[in-house]
Amino acid sequence: MAASNSPKSRNITWHRGEVSRMDRQRRLGQRGATIWFTGLSGSGKSTLSREVEKRIYEIGGLAYVLDGDNMRFGLSKDLGFSPRDREENIRRVGEVAKLFTEAGFFALTAFISPYRRGRDEARIKMQPGDFIEVRVECAIEVCEQRDPKGLYKKAREGLIKEFTGISAPYEPPLSPEVIVHTDTESVEQCTERIIQYLQENGYFFFDQKA
Ligand code: ADX
Repeated sequence: MAASNSPKSRNITWHRGEVSRMDRQRRLGQRGATIWFTGLSGSGKSTLSREVEKRIYEIGGLAYVLDGDNMRFGLSKDLGFSPRDREENIRRVGEVAKLFTEAGFFALTAFISPYRRGRDEARIKMQPGDFIEVRVECAIEVCEQRDPKGLYKKAREGLIKEFTGISAPYEPPLSPEVIVHTDTESVEQCTERIIQYLQENGYFFFDQKA
């Protein structure tokens, strides 16, 4: 069930630590951010986020992937794929990504996140520059052809209800920071474009290794 905006608990107080976000960023040599991948199932979000995670590590930074399927084994194990459950899933992911970002990390989130409102809500919870939306564009025909988990086939057969792109909607971002086309560009090209965005916008303070 989607939570309301105000916490259920009363008599709670926000505590601030002695180590600031700037301190952590200086130690890590990077300005943490959430890199929010959004796109259809099979569009390449997981593959691309893993590749970006590896590239950031190779050049001297630190990133951590929060993956849609994986999260549903734990943090979101009580959720399905109804609009409400997806909304709650994305709300939780947004909160976790915000924590990682404030800890100075790059949080790479790989979720379909089909609703514009959910993504925008994750964005506005963060500071300007903390949320980098990456539209992972790929024609549904190509996703369906790839069908790495055989889910499109099942969805077409009516064995999976509310499947994104088939029987449930996907709302593309209106002005994402980066757009990649995984049906026409290689994983390396898409990865480099995201790394370039980070470099050009001052997310790395260290001397990059490669
Ligand atoms: S989201 O809509 O809430 O953002 P999420 O990214 O966590 O979705 O999970 C999507 C993954 O769950 C897909 O890649 C696919 O493997 C699996 N899945 C199972 N059922 C569905 C469904 N009905 N619609 C979309 N994906 C589904």
